[in-house]
Amino acid sequence: MTRVRIAPSILTADLGRLAEQITEAQEGGADWIHLDVMDGHFVPNITIGPLIAAAARAATSLPIDAHLMIEQPERYIGAFRDAGVDLLTVHVEACPHLHRTIQSIHETGAKAGVAVNPGTPVESIREILPSVDLVLMMSVNPGFGSQRFIEQSLAKIRRVRQMLEDVGQEEVELQVDGGVGESNIAQVVDAGATVVVAGSAVYNPQRSVRENIARLRRAAEG
Ligand code: DX5
Ligand code: ZN
Repeated sequence: MTRVRIAPSILTADLGRLAEQITEAQEGGADWIHLDVMDGHFVPNITIGPLIAAAARAATSLPIDAHLMIEQPERYIGAFRDAGVDLLTVHVEACPHLHRTIQSIHETGAKAGVAVNPGTPVESIREILPSVDLVLMMSVNPGFGSQRFIEQSLAKIRRVRQMLEDVGQEEVELQVDGGVGESNIAQVVDAGATVVVAGSAVYNPQRSVRENIARLRRAAEG
């Protein structure tokens, strides 16, 4: 069983100390850094863009994945790649020409992911699975951190895992994002996740980033 990767989302970090918070995550054992990019159109919230992605890049040597919760993400692929992002994830719901958009991401040298909202059937991504490096399964409705994990996500993660196996794409990363913490990370991993995003479970007033990541890791390994 490969070790699940933990990708702290900076959405709930103290953005006035972004570099420090990212360093704390790296030193605390995080595997990736997850950037939640929101445009106020595809989702109700507005967060960060390529400028902050570049600041994050300067603060860590960890892989950075940018979760583009934006309309027409193809417009910004170059800007996020130039900022130093390693993997760009676009939403199937925002991409009428998804295959072309995934191709465009690969043409920059970056890895490409496709994200699926809780209400979107997994069948919508079947045709793109041979072309992507990662599937991002949303376990909350996108737009905000600190939300409750949507319970039926566990069955959906299993269905995506099964679909990846059915099309011979077992090596594609299955990332789960939203409401994951100590109480459910083992179930999420057991359902087939290989990467887990954690925002409020890592960045919160209760414990240090290091302690929170350690607790997540222990919980994941059961
Ligand atoms: C929500 C984002 C998630 C969120 C995770 O739209 O995509 O990455 O920030 O935060 P938690 O782990 O607090 O749900
Ligand atoms: Zn995210």
